[in-house]
Amino acid sequence: ADLPLVLGLETSCDETGVGIVRGEELLVDAIASSVDEHARFGGVVPEVASRAHLEAMVPTLERATREAGVRLDDLDAIAVTSGPGLAGALMVGVAAAKALAVALGKPLYGVNHLASHVAVDIVEHGPLPEPTLAMLVSGGHSSLLLVPDVTHDVRSLGSTIDDAAGEAFDKVARVLGLPFPGGPHIDRAAREGDRVAIDFPRGLTAGRDMDRHRFDFSFSGLKTAVSRWVQAREAAGEPVPVADVAASFQEAVTDVLTRKAVLACREHGVENLQIGGGVAANSRLRAMAQERCDAAGIKLRVPRPGLCTDNGAMVAALGAQMVLKGRAPSDLSLPADSSMPV
Ligand code: KG4
Ligand code: ZN
Repeated sequence: ADLPLVLGLETSCDETGVGIVRGEELLVDAIASSVDEHARFGGVVPEVASRAHLEAMVPTLERATREAGVRLDDLDAIAVTSGPGLAGALMVGVAAAKALAVALGKPLYGVNHLASHVAVDIVEHGPLPEPTLAMLVSGGHSSLLLVPDVTHDVRSLGSTIDDAAGEAFDKVARVLGLPFPGGPHIDRAAREGDRVAIDFPRGLTAGRDMDRHRFDFSFSGLKTAVSRWVQAREAAGEPVPVADVAASFQEAVTDVLTRKAVLACREHGVENLQIGGGVAANSRLRAMAQERCDAAGIKLRVPRPGLCTDNGAMVAALGAQMVLKGRAPSDLSLPADSSMPV
C-alpha cells in the first residue's frame, strides 16, 4: 500500500547490516560479520572492519533484496548510519547509500546510530511510547537517553566516563581467559556461578560521585578490581573460580545499569524503559531490569537479542519513521561522522 519501503545500511562497527522495512514491519535483516577476523586481536581492528564491509556490502545487499522479494526500484528511501562509529567503516556504508540513492533516484536519510538502536524496537513491539527512556549498552556505548521523538529529539542524560559496559565484559572475559567478544561467554559462565560470591565495586552510585555523575557510568574501576582479584588468586597459587567471578562481575554491572535507568525514569516522569545494544542480550540484565521495572511500575521493552546487536533493520526502522514523520532527507554532502552526538 502506501507505507514506505525503506532500505537501511549499517557499517558503524564490525557488522555489515542490510535491512528492509515496510512502515513498521521488518521484511528482512541480512547481516555479515567480521567478528571472527578481529577475535585474534582481542578487539575490533578498524582497518580490517572497513575492508570487510567493502567485501560484504554488495553480497549482503543482494541477499537482503532476494530474501525480501524486493526490487531496488521499488524502494521509497535509502537510510544509512552516518555516525557515530569507526570512520573508515562508516564511509563504506555512506558511500554505498549515496551511490544507491543517486542511481535509483531515491531520497537519502542519514541516521544516528544511537537513535537507531532505540528505533529498532518499533519493528518488534510497535510504535515507541513518547517519551521513552532508553538505555543503550554496547561495546562502544553506555548511555541513558531521554527520547521524546526518536526521529529528531533524543537527549543524552548521561553516559560512561570511561569504558562502555560491553567493553568491560570483553576485558573481564580476557582476564578470565574467555574468547572475544566476551559478553556471551561471561553470561554463560555466570549461570553456574554465585552472584554474591564477591562484592565488586558499583562505580558512581554513592556520595559525591553520584551527585556529580547521576546518570553517568564508570566501569574501568570494576574491571581493575576484577583483574586485581584474579591476580591475587593466581599469585597465591589458588584456582580462579571463573563462574563466581563472572556472576559477581555481571551482577555489579547490571545492578548499576538497572538502578540508574529506573532512577532516570522516576526523575523524568517516564513510564517506559527500552534497553538496546549488544549488552541488552545479557540474560541477567534482562531479568533484573524486568524485576525492577515491575516494582517501579515501569513498562520495559527489550528487542530480541538479534535486534539488540548492530544490524541493518535498525537503520531501516528509523529511516521509515523519518519518512512517516515527514523529516527532510539528507543531501549528498552527508558525512561519515565518527563522533556524531545524539
Ligand atoms: O551492539 P553491539 O553488537 O556492537 C557495538 O558495540 O555497537 O555490542 C557488542 C557488545 C560486545 O561488547 C559484547 O561482548 C556484548 O555486546 N554482548 C554481551 C552479550 N552479548 C553481546 N554482553 C553481555 N552479555 C551478553 N549476553
Ligand atoms: Zn551499536
